Amino acid sequence: VGTTDLSDVVEQCVQAAAEGDARLAVRDVLERIVSQPEGLAGRLGDPKVGLDILYRAPNLTVIHVVWPPGISLFPHDHRMWAAIAIYGGQEDNAFYRRREGRIVPSGGRELRVGDVLLLGDDAVHSVRNPARTHTGAIHVYGGDFVDMPRSQWDAETLEERPYDHEAVAREFARAEEAFLAASE
Ligand SMILES: [Fe+2]
Repeated sequence: VGTTDLSDVVEQCVQAAAEGDARLAVRDVLERIVSQPEGLAGRLGDPKVGLDILYRAPNLTVIHVVWPPGISLFPHDHRMWAAIAIYGGQEDNAFYRRREGRIVPSGGRELRVGDVLLLGDDAVHSVRNPARTHTGAIHVYGGDFVDMPRSQWDAETLEERPYDHEAVAREFARAEEAFLAASE
């Protein structure tokens, strides 16, 4: 098995998204890719944490995500379908349901290498990397992830506010710094 190029991943996702049921076609592509995770795992050797947007169009966004060890990202929604595939490490997802203007916990799923999770348009989740290693994932969204107005919730008060890409970037940076400080 050779290395999987991220541009190959994008190419396959774009083709899949042009099919009748884009969501299921993208899931199939991602399942194939992370069933041979060693193709991408080299990317975790020198991790650049955060969200690297590989492709962005009105109907599709493909993002390479490297989660720092110990990160805990506040609840947020996407308002478009999402497919999350893990090629290294672990990503714990907690789900929430909207109820009477608030969100309430509604189960969760621990994702490990080879797993692909599909989320519906109305999903609200928070994400945690419980491991002491970085987690590598490909996240695919059925719309323009950057432009779509959506929500995030305070991790403690669960107060809703507009989604803030910079707040997300700060959480990644903070967790990476904490990890580096702890490993000195
Ligand atoms: Fe998310």
